[in-house]
Amino acid sequence: MRVQVVIVGSGPAGLLLGQLLHLSGIEAVILEHRSKDHVLGRIRAGVLEQGAVEMLERAKVASRLHAEGLIHSGFDVLFGGIRHRIDLRGLAGKNVIVYGQTEITRDLMDAREAAGARTVYETDWVSIHDFDADRPTVRYCKDGRETEIACDFIAGCDGFHGVCRRSIPASAISCFERVYPFGWLGVLSDTPPISEELIYVNHERGFALCSMRSRTRSRYYVQCTLSEQVDEWPDERFWDELRLRLDTTSAEKLVTGPSIEKSIAPLRSFVAEPMRFGRLFLAGDAAHIVPPTGAKGLNLAASDVHYLSIALAEYYASGAQQGLDTYSERALKRVWQAERFSWWMTHLLHRFPEAGAFGDKVQRAELQYLVGSNAARISLAENYVGLPY
Ligand code: PHB
Repeated sequence: MRVQVVIVGSGPAGLLLGQLLHLSGIEAVILEHRSKDHVLGRIRAGVLEQGAVEMLERAKVASRLHAEGLIHSGFDVLFGGIRHRIDLRGLAGKNVIVYGQTEITRDLMDAREAAGARTVYETDWVSIHDFDADRPTVRYCKDGRETEIACDFIAGCDGFHGVCRRSIPASAISCFERVYPFGWLGVLSDTPPISEELIYVNHERGFALCSMRSRTRSRYYVQCTLSEQVDEWPDERFWDELRLRLDTTSAEKLVTGPSIEKSIAPLRSFVAEPMRFGRLFLAGDAAHIVPPTGAKGLNLAASDVHYLSIALAEYYASGAQQGLDTYSERALKRVWQAERFSWWMTHLLHRFPEAGAFGDKVQRAELQYLVGSNAARISLAENYVGLPY
């Protein structure tokens, strides 16, 4: 069997790449270790930059996003009991759209199915070979049967724990990492959101975030320790803790209900360089992780796929290599901007156990500077709505 591109991983990065390649007449197969339902069951980010929205438009999968997505022109930062609005549209001239990653994944899967493009789910294993030479191959096993695919390129869209990055020789890759000493406990509930816009909370008891998926579905998070387990957090305890971190007016408005999903996610910053090794290209979480505070994870996956899809389309149209040769450099430039921003926002809003009284005071001063300085608010807004591709 032979295809032009093998995509490993059917999260948003792999699916979006597959769809854009399909529209350019390039044939790709997607291999996915998990089941379709498992991929759809993962609750992830929900905030899309305009650049990512334009990508989904280019991929012709944006109609439901435009019908159901919520346009947000700002968000609140709450500290010291007071909410301060960051006017994204006024400060940076752009909005963001709140639309769950799960829905994007579903839209992309539907488009792929309608196009008759192939995805192999539930592979037992996948291995990649000879990507440092001209004729890479990908082997996989499904239902006990092994298959080998010859291809021109491999796109590693298989996430942080995937096989692609790990297959690059250690001497050819550098990894940069910061692991944070806390996690986010997240709850999804079919209750109306507390506010029309997101609220990012800095509180003595720890960070909290009030987000949403629709007008009737809320997504909330509280900072927790890494040793905590989900079963130590019955719904009542979660709602009580969230309420304690809100201002009085918001706390009174909080509508609680049974959780429909509850999970703890650790926070990590991670970058692997370069993002290309021979004929293997990494995209999305396979190459980099940001803490969710800046809402950048999915948007970065989209910008990687932007560069990669254009480079591959140019290569197949004219044989031009330049886009492929500059992919890593261009993607990483944007990645590091998002890493910086996500790291900064994480420090601004969380309680760091090691910060001490001095660290807490500096953090409060930084928050006051942010809300008092137009330049600081513009910087936050520009980074939040996304830097140009
Ligand atoms: C979410 O809705 O899940 C969400 C929103 C904003 C963030 C992180 C997560 O910064």
